[in-house]
Amino acid sequence: MKVGIDQIGYFTPNKYVDMVDLAHARNQDPNKFLIGIGQKKMSVADPTQDAVSMGINATLRYIDKIDKSKVGLLIFGTESSVDQSKSGSLFVKSALGLNPTVRAFEVKEACFGLTAGLMIAQDFVRLHPDQTAIVIGSDIARYGINTAGEVTQGAGSVSLLISSHPRILELNEGHSAYSEDINDFWRPNYSKTAKVDGKYSTQVYLDFFKHTFSAYKERKNLETKDFAAIVYHLPFTKMGLKANRLAVEGTDEETNARLMDSFTAAKELNANVGNIYTGSLYLSLLSLLENGKLKAGDLVGLFSYGSGAMAEFYSANVVEGYEKQLDKVGDKALLDNRSKLSVAEYEEIFSAGLEDPENDVELTSDEEKGRYYFAGIHNDIRQYQVK
Ligand code: CAA
Repeated sequence: MKVGIDQIGYFTPNKYVDMVDLAHARNQDPNKFLIGIGQKKMSVADPTQDAVSMGINATLRYIDKIDKSKVGLLIFGTESSVDQSKSGSLFVKSALGLNPTVRAFEVKEACFGLTAGLMIAQDFVRLHPDQTAIVIGSDIARYGINTAGEVTQGAGSVSLLISSHPRILELNEGHSAYSEDINDFWRPNYSKTAKVDGKYSTQVYLDFFKHTFSAYKERKNLETKDFAAIVYHLPFTKMGLKANRLAVEGTDEETNARLMDSFTAAKELNANVGNIYTGSLYLSLLSLLENGKLKAGDLVGLFSYGSGAMAEFYSANVVEGYEKQLDKVGDKALLDNRSKLSVAEYEEIFSAGLEDPENDVELTSDEEKGRYYFAGIHNDIRQYQVK
């Protein structure tokens, strides 16, 4: 049975900081951020956008195209959770008007959260082919003002519809997973910003990539040249570039050029949005689908990594006519319509985001009409409204 990705929706908030401005403010050479890290801009979530509102907004991108009555599973993957108990899925379910019969919950394993949800959804749809599953990854990446990780922040969400009649990608059975209990990146309950050993996390990411990629090829009897493209979890695009260089080592010239070109296409959205943790791999997939040269049947490899650490490599084949399911114009407009913040404005918004509002302080949003936003807290309950 064919199971795969039928729809992809993404959302990023309406403000950004330019990496050249940030470099100047931090007394760094702009090329360190633009080339050394590989980032051009980063989206900034003001206090009215959180993991839940962004997840709703990402799913709204395609909700009118699908049969809502068929959605039997709704998984919310995040490491920016808004509640220690209630899952983000229930806020999303209510905003989207999904059936009360839907199974809704949240999962966590750092940036691996969306992939974890996707794997569960895939099994669910194989068992219930007449139903579909929505899987959301939604996060705000916060390291802190004037930290080494600052340039690798961002905010956004990706939402996927998984079905037995996928119109974008057919997922292949089988995968290669690898995990170890390590401390490369984590966020204690008392902190809104992440703790990270950046150099160590890069090294572990690359080790896990080598491990899962070679194990996958062996398991499935594949060679690197069989892949039309490989997409990576991209906390910053240089990280994926390093993995892609490892992938093409020792391959023929044509494979080398193809995988390097497809990586260039796959990093475009990420370089302009920044790190969105759980959604990063799938934002890169969307970037590849919109900017790459894929054709029906092409094999795409996907490398997912979540700190702590858990990695998985799997693959999918491109479905004929996939382009018709994408909204390239709308996706570009989300980036182009953002307003540019000065570094001082970004710092103010960043600091405001470290505290939750007091009860009954109403927040107003400057997002465009139709978008959901976090409107404040009433009786200790978070309120979401639509503009
Ligand atoms: N021109 C061009 N390149 C330059 C340059 C210049 N003027 N100056 C420096 N560079 C290059 C350096 O050579 C270096 O390149 P390589 O990596 O190829 O060696 C690159 O710019 C970065 O320079 P540094 O290593 O000196 O940068 P840094 O010490 O400021 O740290 C960082 C960079 C480690 C990535 C830091 O930004 C960081 O810690 N980021 C967060 C870590 C992170 O995202 N880890 C990812 C896994 S965690 C994750 O994804 C989250 C999850 O699971 C939840």
